[in-house]
Formats: sequence, C-alpha cells, structure tokens
Amino acid sequence: MKAVIVNDFRAEPELTELPTPEPGPGELLVHLLAAGLNPFDWKVADGALKDVVPHSFPLVLGSDGAGLVVKTGPGVTRFREGDRVYGQFMRLPQGQGSYSEFTLAHQDGKLALLPDELDYPLAAALPTAAVTAYQAVGAANLKDGQTLLINGASGGVGQSAVQFAARLGARVLATGTADVADYLRELGAHTVIDFTEAPTHEQVAAAYPDGIDAMLDLVASTVSDVNALSELVRNGGTVVSTTHTADPETLAGRGIQGVNLASDATPETLAELARLAASGDLRVRIEQTVPLAEAPEAVAKARAGHSRGKTVILP
Ligand SMILES: NC(=O)c1ccc[n+]([C@@H]2O[C@H](COP(=O)([O-])OP(=O)(O)OC[C@H]3O[C@@H](n4cnc5c(N)ncnc54)[C@H](OP(=O)(O)O)[C@@H]3O)[C@@H](O)[C@H]2O)c1
Repeated sequence: MKAVIVNDFRAEPELTELPTPEPGPGELLVHLLAAGLNPFDWKVADGALKDVVPHSFPLVLGSDGAGLVVKTGPGVTRFREGDRVYGQFMRLPQGQGSYSEFTLAHQDGKLALLPDELDYPLAAALPTAAVTAYQAVGAANLKDGQTLLINGASGGVGQSAVQFAARLGARVLATGTADVADYLRELGAHTVIDFTEAPTHEQVAAAYPDGIDAMLDLVASTVSDVNALSELVRNGGTVVSTTHTADPETLAGRGIQGVNLASDATPETLAELARLAASGDLRVRIEQTVPLAEAPEAVAKARAGHSRGKTVILP
C-alpha cells in the first residue's frame, strides 16, 4: 500500500510503499478514502510526543481519516466489513496513521460509523478540529448573550468553534483577515477582528472597555501571549487554550478559570459531530483536496500557516 511516512523525527515526509497490515484480535483493516491534515500531524513528526509514547519508524503521518472496513480480526463485534467509519487513526507505537491507503484501528478506538449523507472527505476533515472546537466551547462555560473572543478563528478549529459558540447564543468576536471576514460572519461571528490591522487586545479593549466573558486561544505559543489577551477577560470568566499556554494558577489569582484543553475524540462525540455535519448544522470548509503523493507539499504549506479551513488528502 502507498503511505506518506517519516523515517525519523524532523525528517522530510515521503511517499513510499509499505506492506498492508493484517488485523489482529479486536482490530479492523480500514481502506482509507480520505485523510484530514492537522497541525498536530507535523508537530508529532517533529517529536512533540517523543517523551510521552514510543514511536515506530517508518511512521505513517496523520491522525484523521474516513474509509471502509474491509477486514476484521478475531473478536471484533462493534464493526463489520462494509461499514463506513471515521475517526482518529494515529497509533504511534505501531507506526500507523491516516496518510495511507489502509490502516488498522482497534474496535474500541476513536471511531464512529458515518451517516450515509456524509461523504468521506468531509468526514475526514472533522475529527481533530471539530471535536476540539466542540469541547473547547463547552469548556468555556458560556451563558446566553455572553461575549467570547476566539483568537485564531480563521483556521480549522476556529471555524467550527465560531459555529458552536454562536449556537449557544454567545456574542462571538472572531479574529481573521479581510479575506475570511464575510465567511466568519456567515458562520455566526458578531464581529471580526483583523489582527493584522492592530493588536487584537487593543481592538477588543477599545470595543469592550468593561471586558469580555471568555476567550478561546488557538494561536498563542507562550504563556505571556495568553496572559496579554486574558487581561480582557472579566473576573469570573474562562480562558481556554488549545496550545497548552494557559497558566491556570496565575489566571485563578484574577478570578479566571484557565483550561488547557486536550481534546478527546470519543465515539459518542464523533457520532454527534457526524450527525451535525450530515444535517448541515456544522459547516466545514475544505480549503484544498490533494492526492496522497502531494501530502508532503501540503504538510509543508500547513507548517507555513495561513490556513483558511481544512486540507483533505485522498489516498
Ligand atoms: N490541544 C488539543 O487537543 C488540540 C487539538 C487541535 C488543535 N490544537 C492546536 O490548536 C491550534 C489551532 O489548530 P487549527 O487546526 O485550527 O490550526 P490552523 O487550521 O492552522 O489555523 C490556525 C489559524 O490561526 C490564525 N492565526 C495565526 N496567527 C494568528 C494571530 N496572531 N492572531 C489571530 N489568528 C492567527 C491563522 O491565520 P493566518 O494564516 O491569517 O495567520 C490560521 O487561520 C494548533 O496549534 C493546533 O495544534 C490543539
């Protein structure tokens, strides 16, 4: 089978040929028909989880995917051949991932059945970004009419977060450049803040001198980045970071709850998001679709930034 792999941490991704794996006890062989690209994919390839879990090389890149169950191992009861499934397929100790024609998943893994109305590319675009958005907005503890700043709203997680927060009745302040502003408003943003015009915290402070209720940060690379923006959040509010840059202790000193979110794509959450996407209640913009052979270039482009939605790879 064809797969895009790295042979070591920080090595260049490359297209290669690997043996198609055989499902063991409790495992499914999935013929992947689409894979979703996330910043997490290249961060892992750079060694982000080096000291957390063992990795096998060659390591197939990618987590998110959607496809068809083509074979089941002994003891599989939850899925059967012919099932359309989607979810997260990254298994670092086995060197397995989603940028591949086939992969293995455990039946108890982060997987759910796909509704008939949801196509594979859209399904592959959902797991990491939409689950994170869903759980991050949930962690923000919003009440109807409260104001939430989403810093990084123009990317994969942000676009879904805007929709979930708007649906809860929040007033959403979304960062984004002019090219994406109309789309963010369509998704439910009340105000779009062009962070290239003036610093976001200055623009929000000018418009909301009494402060805002919550902030979801998808961008910060340091604790001090988050601290600067969290000055905008009122006592009793919440700051949620997806880049592990919230400092809950310091924030607690100002009466703010700080959350460093580690998203968890449970089968139940995946099933719920598939239902929302299939019914059109969750919109996901696929920015580009590329064949597997072009995944290395797509990863390089993603590293350079400027995401305006999801990149989907077709194995
Ligand atoms: N903890 C978890 O469980 C978890 C799960 C998923 C994602 N994440 C992390 O969350 C982050 C966002 O993920 P993603 O998939 O949404 O990434 P993405 O699709 O690459 O989007 C990032 C967005 O941030 C925007 N941005 C960059 N600098 C900005 C700034 N200074 N102010 C405002 N916006 C800015 C970019 O716009 P421009 O290009 O215009 O700069 C881009 O649209 C990543 O770091 C990812 O690794 C964590």
